[in-house]
Order: sequence, then C-alpha cells, then structure tokens
Amino acid sequence: MANKEREQFIASLKVKEDKSPYVKSAKGVIYPKYKVKNGIDGLAHIEHTTHIGSKIAINECDNEIHNIILGCLLHDIGRGHEAIGQTHGDAGGPIAKNILEEYFEKYDVDIDKLVYAIKNHDKGRVTTDRMIGSVWDADRLSLYRFKGREINRELLSTEAAKELLDYAKSYIERNMSDYYLDFEKDEGTEHE
Ligand SMILES: [Fe+2]
Ligand SMILES: [Fe+2]
Repeated sequence: MANKEREQFIASLKVKEDKSPYVKSAKGVIYPKYKVKNGIDGLAHIEHTTHIGSKIAINECDNEIHNIILGCLLHDIGRGHEAIGQTHGDAGGPIAKNILEEYFEKYDVDIDKLVYAIKNHDKGRVTTDRMIGSVWDADRLSLYRFKGREINRELLSTEAAKELLDYAKSYIERNMSDYYLDFEKDEGTEHE
C-alpha cells in the first residue's frame, strides 16, 4: 500500500518537481501551520528553499525527492516556537514529527531522518547523508535572499548544490518580490 503511494508520489515529483500536485497539497497542509509567514524568513523563503531543494534532489538523489521536498517545506516550522535557549531547528523537530505522522506517513517518508534534518539544519553543519545534505543545502543556497551574501562552499554537503550556486542566485534575484507578498492573507502563491 505505502509503496504504491510512494512510487506515485516520487514519479510526480520527478517530472514536475515543486510544481507537482503533491507539493501543492503538501503546502496546503504545512503552510497554515507556520507561525512566521511573512518577511525574509517566512513562506517566500520556504517556497524558494523547496524549489531549489527539488533541483538538488533531481541531481543528487532523486529517489529521496519526496523526503527532500518535505524537509524543505518543514525545515523552518519551529520559527516563533522557540523556548528560551532553544534554536528554531530544535523547536521545529517535534512539530514536524507530528505533521509527518499525521499527514505523510502513507508516502512512506523517513520521519526519523527528516526530524533529525530539521532539528539540525540551523547548526552550520555538513553531512555525508545525501538526503539530509540536500535539505540543508537548499536552505543554505536560499541565503542569497540577503543582499550581498556569499555562500561558503565548504558548508555545502552536496555536489549538486555546488553546481546550482549560480542558478540559485539568479532564481532568488528574479523572485525577490515574493518577500513582499502577504502570506497571512493570501495562502499559497503561484510564481515562476
Ligand atoms: Fe532555519
Ligand atoms: Fe530556512
């Protein structure tokens, strides 16, 4: 059962990447649960991270594309939920776990690994795990949203991300207007 759902899920993501209907429905579940929706670290950043993550996944480990896209969509879910002394990654781990168990278990996603990726995405680390590395790298390439920011290649875990540096920079530059959208009012937005 889970395998068939998973195969369909992955097949659609491979063809349509972040434009897959599965991604759209995942956003419909996940975006309303974000506390910080607007601004430079809000849902525009999640959109861009997910787009870049789907490109990394296709080149780096396409059989994990479903996990990578969900990792990108959920990675900052802890923003606004941090307890004292806690990072937003640490805060996001258990929230992401609940969402994955409730809505995405049928796709046979690797919940433990995703929770680990989300908890640790903000610690400035690299990894040899290609799925986790793809999520962390998609977020790192999204640093181009900060004007003048250069990306430290040493902190990229995947070869695919290193090859996508120029693409990510121009993609984000072309879509900077997304950071001014009001996601509080207008859930989910279509852009290039
Ligand atoms: Fe983050
Ligand atoms: Fe992020």
